[in-house]
Amino acid sequence: MVTNDTSTQIRLQKVLAAAGIGSRRACEEMIDEGRVEVDGRIVLEQGLRVDPRSSVIKVDGMRIPTAPGHVVLAFNKPRGVHSTMTDERGRPCVGDYLRGRKERLFHVGRLDADTEGLLLFTNDGELAQRLAHPSHGVAKTYLAQVKGTIPRDLGKRLREGVELEDGIVRVDRFRVVTSAPGRALVELVLHEGRKHVVRRLLAAVGHPVEGLVRVKVGPIGLGDLRSGKLRTLTIGEVGELYASVGL
Ligand code: URA
Repeated sequence: MVTNDTSTQIRLQKVLAAAGIGSRRACEEMIDEGRVEVDGRIVLEQGLRVDPRSSVIKVDGMRIPTAPGHVVLAFNKPRGVHSTMTDERGRPCVGDYLRGRKERLFHVGRLDADTEGLLLFTNDGELAQRLAHPSHGVAKTYLAQVKGTIPRDLGKRLREGVELEDGIVRVDRFRVVTSAPGRALVELVLHEGRKHVVRRLLAAVGHPVEGLVRVKVGPIGLGDLRSGKLRTLTIGEVGELYASVGL
């Protein structure tokens, strides 16, 4: 937002440089080239003062995270770790992996203790809320090791919807990654956030899950992040996350 409160206002090229877009000179060139937008307006003049906490700043149409102190982390949650910041019973929990960090981070959604893979953390409340809210329908991708031989029409059935005790679940995509006699590795993409949904869905169609890994949340992939490790998302990734939830 372009406000009159000069205490919070900083020159646009400085805000861009601080966000890691490039040197101040490079950011000035981007402004000259008409690539920078503030609150929906292309800015061509140099030195415009903006509030990095509230202005919506985009470069080439992509939102740039400029609020000082906001971070988004990707975590590869190990199996057996609970998706809570503390655990009264002393069981391993995701909070154990964040001790010593100064930001007040929250996990975005949850994974079952038995499920591994990508869990995001952020201290950006609005982003966390939107990512977790079903109305934004953020797609999540899972790899499931299942029992049984996968019939040809399973993908169609899952896309059409399967009735579970709390309503119908539909997947967006389904494919068999590898199969061996009596077992298969399958990939599913779905927008659901319901508890144990992948395990319940696959059990309902006769293929109980033996192992489950979440490999993608919206545009963010787990990649080669090792189990139990955290990494800070890049500016580009945070921009893509914002875009995925309409921020
Ligand atoms: N579905 C599940 O069954 N478990 C998870 O952790 C996430 C989705």
